[in-house]
Amino acid sequence: MLRYRLFNATILTLLTVFIVCPTFLGQALFAAEKYELSRFISPETCGDCHSEIFSQWSNSMHSLAQKDPVYLNVSEFLRKGLVDQDEIAEAESCVKCHVPVGVVTGYPTKLSDDKRKIPDIANKGIQCDYCHSAIGAEKIYNNDIKLNPGHGEDDPGTKNGPRKDAESDFHETKYSKFHTRSEICGTCHNVKHVVFNTDLETTYEEWKKGPYNSHDPEKRITCQGCHMFQRPDLPATGSTKRIKNKGEAADDGPVREHVFTHYFVGGNRFIPEKFGDREKGKMAEERLKNSASLAIETGEIEKGKLGIKITNTGAGHYLPTGLTNIRQMWLEITIKDSDNGKTVYESGKFDQDSCLKDDAIIFNTVFGDGKGNPVVNIAKAREVLKDKRIPPLESLTETIQLPLEKWNHLSVHVKLLYRSAPQKILDMVSGKGKIKLPVVTMASVDRKIAKP
Ligand code: HEC
Ligand code: HEC
Ligand code: HEC
Ligand code: HEC
Ligand code: HEC
Repeated sequence: MLRYRLFNATILTLLTVFIVCPTFLGQALFAAEKYELSRFISPETCGDCHSEIFSQWSNSMHSLAQKDPVYLNVSEFLRKGLVDQDEIAEAESCVKCHVPVGVVTGYPTKLSDDKRKIPDIANKGIQCDYCHSAIGAEKIYNNDIKLNPGHGEDDPGTKNGPRKDAESDFHETKYSKFHTRSEICGTCHNVKHVVFNTDLETTYEEWKKGPYNSHDPEKRITCQGCHMFQRPDLPATGSTKRIKNKGEAADDGPVREHVFTHYFVGGNRFIPEKFGDREKGKMAEERLKNSASLAIETGEIEKGKLGIKITNTGAGHYLPTGLTNIRQMWLEITIKDSDNGKTVYESGKFDQDSCLKDDAIIFNTVFGDGKGNPVVNIAKAREVLKDKRIPPLESLTETIQLPLEKWNHLSVHVKLLYRSAPQKILDMVSGKGKIKLPVVTMASVDRKIAKP
């Protein structure tokens, strides 16, 4: 009987290896070392001594990476109905970055695992003990972070950070160059399709080849140099001052010239607010409003051509960056005849369902199925069809053609607008009108023009 069971178990194991594994190619990518769940310490415990950093991190996009309803709805939706094994492997891979503590402790291993069984600590997203157990990474994409966690609260091990002189009674501390570099961020902020290798998010690459990755220490700004200097009313972008945050990194610790902040605010005006954190929503708006400038160019107006120049003044990467097949950054243009008030030209307006009309000039990426047809599902992304965005400290000029004969004086209003996702996609994944994302005005310019 026992032998029979063993035999059965062996067959089952073999079946699992030969049938299930190729099915979830993604799993092979998670083959990284696994740790006992009890080795990770909850963020609340860290917060006992690092209370300020803890409150900054709470309700950040990092802390909400697994609770974010937009992420949850989109990921579920994209997984549905897939049959191609390569596409399934990608659609199942999301947990690697969105639930990292779960993945390295063995559950979940894939998106479709039962979410109710995810341990409490893993649901706390990208957290203190994950980042501060990090000791390096070989590949700077798809979260290849190597860890050296402690053994729970009784033996918390070493927390790696930027200080050479930090001392704590609770845990060992160690200076880690990795934590001071953009690479620690780039391991997750560079996303490639797990099978097709298509570049899905390239924030780190954009920074790496850009002007902020400079050898000149005066010009060099890491991800942390902007994002971990921000605090309320101090957006800390490329176009603002990045004032040092003097204070204590631990309660009753020594005063430091700069304590790295942990709000991790980007462009998301909605998710932290949904969890009751209005401050971070406001900070996202402050960040977006200090990212770009707009100018109107009338050099060829005698031919009816009007230029609109957008400059990326504040972002350390392309504008927009990240999930740019979903993000919307576009121009809203209204041009009126100042003599009679009639509209001469218009683009970038919403229809009655808050969907952006097709005529909008939008800065984004579009993926293709390998045969030139656009796809929304990143699991199917075999190629990049379009990449129209603005590199750091560079400009892009859009030229529009006006009907020259019809006017003598014009008043031109242009806005650069941002929304984290199109209403059409939100309606599709969450139900019509269930989620409405705010629109942020990043920059605007008005100009009166007389016919030459
Ligand atoms: C009992 C109090 C206490 C607890 C609990 C605690 N820390 Fe600390 N930690 C400190 C003190 C004190 C320092 C030193 C601060 C300084 O020198 O500015 C420190 C320093 C650090 C540093 C900087 C290390 C360096 O070399 O740069 C990191 C990172 C850190 N802690 C992470 C954590 C994490 C993660 C947790 C939870 C797993 C945690 N701490 C829990 C007291 C604590
Ligand atoms: C996404 C990864 C990440 C998360 C999550 C994270 N940290 Fe950090 N933390 C960093 C990095 C990176 C630095 C150093 C920045 C630098 O030197 O450029 C840092 C710095 C620190 C420091 C030293 C600050 C200083 O200026 O002396 C402490 C203490 C710390 N973190 C504690 C925490 C605690 C507590 C939490 C959870 C509430 C946390 N961290 C969450 C990445 C993270
Ligand atoms: C373990 C993976 C991981 C690491 C390491 C990581 N991030 Fe993130 N980060 C994410 C994920 C996933 C999200 C998005 C969560 C969501 O939208 O649900 C995110 C979101 C953000 C956002 C908010 C984006 C928005 O739209 O508002 C910022 C800003 C950010 N990260 C900056 C950083 C910086 C700076 C570092 C390095 C110090 C870093 N991240 C390290 C995974 C990571
Ligand atoms: C010079 C300052 C600066 C540097 C350096 C910088 N950023 Fe940003 N970041 C910004 C600004 C400004 C925004 C808001 C505009 C936007 O959304 O792109 C932003 C937005 C973001 C967002 C949200 C994008 C979105 O719209 O969803 C993420 C994620 C992010 N940054 C990550 C990073 C990472 C990772 C690095 C390093 C590789 C980095 N940033 C370096 C200034 C900076
Ligand atoms: C290699 C790490 C990584 C993997 C794997 C990953 N993501 Fe993300 N995800 C990120 C980062 C980083 C951001 C933040 C970028 C930004 O703000 O633009 C993000 C943001 C998002 C957001 C935006 C949420 C919001 O509120 O706006 C969605 C949706 C999302 N991811 C879906 C997915 C899906 C679906 C998968 C799996 C098919 C996946 N992600 C796999 C790193 C990852």
